[in-house]
Amino acid sequence: MASKNPIRVAVTGAAGNIGYAAIFRLASGAVFGPDQPVALNLIEVGPGLNALAGVVMELQDCAFPLLTDVVATGDLDEGFKDADWCLLIGAVPRKEGMERKDLLGINGKIFIGQGQAIARSAKKSVKVLVVGNPCNTNCLIALRAAASLPPENFFAMTRLDENRAKSQLAAKAGVHNSAVKNVAIWGNHSSTQYPDFTNATIGGKAATAVITDHAWLKEVFIPEVQKRGAAVIKARGASSAASAANAALDTLRNLHVPTAAGEWHAVAVLSKGDYGISPGIIFGYPVRTKADGTWEIVQGLPVDAFSREKIGITEKELLEERATASEALGLKL
Ligand code: LMR
Repeated sequence: MASKNPIRVAVTGAAGNIGYAAIFRLASGAVFGPDQPVALNLIEVGPGLNALAGVVMELQDCAFPLLTDVVATGDLDEGFKDADWCLLIGAVPRKEGMERKDLLGINGKIFIGQGQAIARSAKKSVKVLVVGNPCNTNCLIALRAAASLPPENFFAMTRLDENRAKSQLAAKAGVHNSAVKNVAIWGNHSSTQYPDFTNATIGGKAATAVITDHAWLKEVFIPEVQKRGAAVIKARGASSAASAANAALDTLRNLHVPTAAGEWHAVAVLSKGDYGISPGIIFGYPVRTKADGTWEIVQGLPVDAFSREKIGITEKELLEERATASEALGLKL
């Protein structure tokens, strides 16, 4: 057993499809590294608790060298106790034909309770990643409900969109996806998000110089990435799970390890007005993790008129989501 203190990760929806795909990799060391012990606090509701007992048995059966202890519970305060990270996956999932907005009223209440319990029970330095949709606005709800915690420690996941975008750009350029870098996802994790090809690079060159079919970039690539979640739901009859778990773990790692020079990753954070975005919404930005473990929004990226228009559309949707959620929950978010 390694000698460092464990990183305690609380996971809601731990026995669900995304949770199940995430926790074994967390326990294996794939996220925080091969010398970093991990403790898991697994949280489920009602019927999920039986399945969770089976998941705990499977974790035991893996005999992971880095896993120090596992708490399995239906109680939020016990679940978030002393957490360094909270991975908020549990939410009512979107079904075919539903927009994320439909979920706001249903899931909003869940995230108020979770935010309050995190503030009461987790470490004061806890970081929170919201995956359950609509994740940007759920994150805002949790952040407001946990008003005693630093707002900069709350994140919503746009990394799945970054990964999807990289994969599409690589396929079009005929290169491996590792050659594609710096794909910002602006705004909402929804069909209005703007996957920014204008600042992306492929093999160190501007993506727009490598892919000269700009009509494809504007008219095929963008909607393909925006609607990929819906396409997966249609094909699988269920929301993406393994790729969502993978992106959640990518996000944790991105925020844990300093970002390579000149690069960035996609994550949504509380807007303070950077790039002219309205403050007080959880907005997808290009972000860098600094050597001291804090993060910053990458400044000064060129935003052309095309990008500005797309960014405005997703900003408008987030402002509407905030208004809808405020009304549904009787709160001023
Ligand atoms: C996804 O992007 O696959 C998920 O967020 C599911 C969804 O609702 O689109």
